Amino acid sequence: MKTLDHLLENNARWAQKMKSEDPEYFSRVYDVQKPKYLWIGCSDSRISANMTMGLKPGELFVHRNIANVVVHTDMNCLSVIQFAVEALGVEHVIVCGHYNCGGVKAALEDETKLGLISNWLRHIQDVMRTHEKTLAAIESDETRLDKLCELNVLEQTFNVCETSFVKDAWRRGRKLTVHGWIYDLREGVLKKLGVHLENKAQFDDLRRLNSERFL
Ligand code: CO
Repeated sequence: MKTLDHLLENNARWAQKMKSEDPEYFSRVYDVQKPKYLWIGCSDSRISANMTMGLKPGELFVHRNIANVVVHTDMNCLSVIQFAVEALGVEHVIVCGHYNCGGVKAALEDETKLGLISNWLRHIQDVMRTHEKTLAAIESDETRLDKLCELNVLEQTFNVCETSFVKDAWRRGRKLTVHGWIYDLREGVLKKLGVHLENKAQFDDLRRLNSERFL
């Protein structure tokens, strides 16, 4: 029988280390979580949101799916956003993509043999359609993939801003900022993508600037 004892042993060592550094740590977070940040990222195994930013358990609320897509009818993602914004009171939503994302790459190559996921990746092909001119003007395949990874983050931050919860929070004057970041797997570095939206007016302006469709 194959067991995963090595993982449980790692866990025991980690829990012990946490307790020795901060004896009250686990008892303090047992009853309450008050994270300031919601992370919406790709499921990719090469990215660990907490580790990347040096955050402890309890400091980051997380939603992940293939290619960090925010879909208006995805009850899973919407529930996470609502709970984070309305119940936990997070002050920041970070949508973080990454370069060389397999999901974005499959969408770019119009890979249709992946089964269900091909349909999920349709959402990224919608991003491609919106930014058709920008992508078509890029000659190198690698650069085009990098750009689409960035544009996907941009459009998914817009989708976050379009949720009723974020709109409502802004309408009520709540402090809530939506950020668009990208992670460079080669360097382990997070990069800002010029998306820092604190209210509806900023969102409307940025979206207008980035909207190619119908031009
Ligand atoms: Co990915």
